[in-house]
Amino acid sequence: MSHGPNIRYIVKAGGVLSGSARVAGDKSMSHRSIMLGALANGTTYVTGFLEGEDSLNTLKAFRAMGVEITDPDNGKVTINGVGLRGLTAPTAPLDMGNSGTAMRLMCGILAGQSFDSTLIGDASLSKRPMKRVTNPLALMGAKVDSQGEKGLPPLVIHGGAGLKGIEYDLPMASAQVKSCVLLAGLYADGVTTVTEPAPTRDHTERMLRGFGYEVKTVGNSMSLVGGGKLTATDIDVPADISSAAFFMVAATIAPNSDITLLHVGINPTRTGVIDILRLMGADISLSNEKEVGGEPVADIRIRSAQLKGIDIPEDLVPLAIDEFPVLFVAAACAQGRTVLTGAEELRVKESDRIAVMANALQAMGIAAVPTEDGCIIDGGQLTAPSSPINSHGDHRIAMASAVAALRVDSGEVLIDDCANVNTSFPGFVALSAGLGLAIRQEIPE
Ligand code: S3P
Repeated sequence: MSHGPNIRYIVKAGGVLSGSARVAGDKSMSHRSIMLGALANGTTYVTGFLEGEDSLNTLKAFRAMGVEITDPDNGKVTINGVGLRGLTAPTAPLDMGNSGTAMRLMCGILAGQSFDSTLIGDASLSKRPMKRVTNPLALMGAKVDSQGEKGLPPLVIHGGAGLKGIEYDLPMASAQVKSCVLLAGLYADGVTTVTEPAPTRDHTERMLRGFGYEVKTVGNSMSLVGGGKLTATDIDVPADISSAAFFMVAATIAPNSDITLLHVGINPTRTGVIDILRLMGADISLSNEKEVGGEPVADIRIRSAQLKGIDIPEDLVPLAIDEFPVLFVAAACAQGRTVLTGAEELRVKESDRIAVMANALQAMGIAAVPTEDGCIIDGGQLTAPSSPINSHGDHRIAMASAVAALRVDSGEVLIDDCANVNTSFPGFVALSAGLGLAIRQEIPE
């Protein structure tokens, strides 16, 4: 396991949020900044890098393949790129810890190398499906072994395969699979085209262009020609809207609250959470909108509002996929019923987020009925759970459950297995305290 001793959060019921803060750096962009910086010619300077366990595992993996990368210092990282063909064989398996993004994107890059490599992960990642990447890579000619019928990690990647470009229709809306195929496409003969069933986050395409690599987008299809070159650049990673989402919901549901979250990435493929919360009646306004290194950013002000239940439009689901744990909390605090459908992908995240969040809300007195591809939640009064909420080691379940405490009527909410918050949001507890959400931490016996 990549995380240390189990950490318990203890959160007192109630609270008011105020002030302003910049949340942790964007995880998706942090991974990609290391990957593309390592494969570029020249030196890439990154600022705003997320110093969380997930992106640090990506950083360590490239160091293990001979890339010189400085220790992150206050979000600053310098990468001495080795070029597309400059990686060297790692001497041990590459440990991706808890990160599906790292494993799936790395798999695409490693499929194009001349050497063999192995990708491993923690207990949660070792249960996550990898056929979604090994299938298209096999069509490109890659040789990747996974475990068992489900195609689980470890992934053993045989080098020297000689990839060819393919046209691939993604069976699910997944930016990780899209990115894996496009990154393998850098090493393939000819054109690689990926078509997605619905728009998903497009950071890979944007960042490749930032490194001077042409990626064509026509409708829902992205294509690139293999064998080009990436040229080092500077990358300013904005604050992660997925981390900001916890406080968007927190300030909405806690009465008399008013906060501003600074320099948040508002790429339109990530802003589903804002759209969904606004449909529910949230008071969210953007200011200081600007573009930084090909990605839009803004300050986001959130004031308390009474939410109402809605049927969540299915086209918003991929654009808010990581925000559902905390959106479930918003639904629990809304007047009326919220219905989520078309979100079966939530079942194969760091935990089965439909089952785990439904359990957590039920433990807090809310009628939450899981369905195959979503959940039906009737808003109501939250009460303190009689035993600790089990986050199942899922960072976003832990943080969402802490936010829920703001609307619990009395007592405390205990949340177990919270160490993995460090995968995406180191400093969550301190930042929460600064905004008015007080969380105590304990290592239970
Ligand atoms: C990510 C894509 C999403 C998301 C994950 C990060 C990425 O996964 O859930 O946290 O950086 O590409 P899927 O592509 O599997 O939906």
